[in-house]
Amino acid sequence: MARKLAAGNWKMNGTTEALTEVAALTALLEAEACEVLLCPPATLIARMADMAHGSALMIGGQTCHPNASGAHTGDISAQMLADAGASHVILGHSERRADHGETDEDVAAQVTAALTSSLIAIVCIGETEAERDAGVTLNVVGTQLAGSIPEGADLSRLVVAYEPVWAIGTGRTPTLDQIADVHDHIRAELSGRFGSAAQDVPLLYGGSVKPSNAAEIFAVSNVDGALVGGASLKAADFGGIVSALSGA
Ligand code: 13P
Repeated sequence: MARKLAAGNWKMNGTTEALTEVAALTALLEAEACEVLLCPPATLIARMADMAHGSALMIGGQTCHPNASGAHTGDISAQMLADAGASHVILGHSERRADHGETDEDVAAQVTAALTSSLIAIVCIGETEAERDAGVTLNVVGTQLAGSIPEGADLSRLVVAYEPVWAIGTGRTPTLDQIADVHDHIRAELSGRFGSAAQDVPLLYGGSVKPSNAAEIFAVSNVDGALVGGASLKAADFGGIVSALSGA
């Protein structure tokens, strides 16, 4: 059985004043039956990791460079994220793929770097609306999955997030059957490639998850949690999603 994970992706949101939400969230967390993670902008990682110390909250980054150090202005390495107090890193988010041209090959190199620095890699995959309409969702997701996970990856440090691009920030979500189809496919593909270790890889759904739809999504086959954008910015909303997962 995969562990359950509620992960928040703050994207390019949050300055010092947003730390009050982190304090509120850690106060809300009790003995949750799931893992809880927030991935803030890099500027807040160290401060949030200090605040989360001693609580159930874990902190992660939103991308990393494949190299450990070097002449890469503006980039951040997996080693630096770990040094700042991160335990996880989101890799290959559709916004990185679109805004920065990241390919599956790039993402696989980032995953290798993350695993080398003992981070847990959250690999994001998902189809565009045009791809869904063309009926090629499972092909697209399967290709991204195969290309974004490097040979010999340690599956105990891997999480996969299925995020349909058209569901991100739109308030639209796939039907529960559509989510089940994709998650079952991801589990089957991982099992075919890696064998029984694939059962332990948490599969997250992401795209317009909120407290009001979380419970029904968490009841779907092979959904082990969520990667949450907008609703992770407020402790009350994210706390509601954490409770739904904890009780799932
Ligand atoms: P929203 O929850 O805002 O739709 O964002 C999802 C997402 O992209 C998380 O990585």
